[in-house]
Amino acid sequence: MSQADTSTWRELLDETTERLGDRNEARWMCEEASGLDGGEFLDELDQPATQRMGLALQSMVGRRLAGEPLQYVLGHWPFRRVDLLVDRRVLIPRPETELVAGEALGIALAAHGGRGGRTIRIVDLGTGSGAIGLAIANELPHTGVEVWITDASADALDVARANIPGIGRNAANVRVALGEWCAALPDELRGRFDVVVSNPPYVAVDDATLDESVRDHEPHSALFSANDGLADIFAIAAQARDWLADNGRLILEIGHRQGAAVRAELERLGYVNVEVKVDLAGHDRIAVAVKVANA
Ligand SMILES: C[S@@+](CC[C@H](N)C(=O)[O-])C[C@H]1O[C@@H](n2cnc3c(N)ncnc32)[C@H](O)[C@@H]1O
Repeated sequence: MSQADTSTWRELLDETTERLGDRNEARWMCEEASGLDGGEFLDELDQPATQRMGLALQSMVGRRLAGEPLQYVLGHWPFRRVDLLVDRRVLIPRPETELVAGEALGIALAAHGGRGGRTIRIVDLGTGSGAIGLAIANELPHTGVEVWITDASADALDVARANIPGIGRNAANVRVALGEWCAALPDELRGRFDVVVSNPPYVAVDDATLDESVRDHEPHSALFSANDGLADIFAIAAQARDWLADNGRLILEIGHRQGAAVRAELERLGYVNVEVKVDLAGHDRIAVAVKVANA
């Protein structure tokens, strides 16, 4: 590695694989350091890396070996059709959250189909990197759509803002607001959202099963919530009633042991058609509920 200016990418890939013990991670880091991806990188395997590229690779390998998550080391990660910048200011977007975004997208598309010329409005509360909101804005039609993304963390919103241009011309439909859950939104939008979606913090503060790498590296304000992890879910459920239009949908990512408690709370709050859906592992993961008038 110290002779990076004379090593070929093939040599660096082999050496990195040996150090990390993982060929895929080594390949992704080499691609990142070289600025090439996929077939382009393979075409350059027998070309020497520049010293600057070798140093960039060395720095990434050092961070990874020190335990930093791969996604932060690479600095970006795919979420549905968007490549998101990610760093320690935001939660790493998870595959199960892609399902949450997909659920919200399906509902938003149906609302768009029946909108009769009006603009449909969606909010992603606690957007972090922008994952859910930007994926939805990206996959919805360009016209007749407004997607709000909010967070209480100004740092997280800086990352989300940096990701907005990544969705191309649909970036024009995105609005950003800083603040605590629904209080971030402009008052005149009360009762005017078709979809409120959120992946809030839902890990219990004393959860001993939480992966050490998650606890050590990801923002605690994105992970932990009081009341066995339910406090923020319940707060959003209570607030969203005032912000959803009649027949609007609330979609929440939840912890795999929280299905029954969340269902009971949503019904208590007056939502109807409450459903708890499972993720690819068969765990309770998504709560969906409909707001009706006076709920
Ligand atoms: C689990 S992370 C989800 C991030 C992103 N939506 C995703 O799915 O990858 C929860 C997010 O909620 C934000 N958050 C925590 N408490 C909040 C609050 N009271 N009001 C608004 N956002 C909050 C955190 O800053 C964090 O970005």
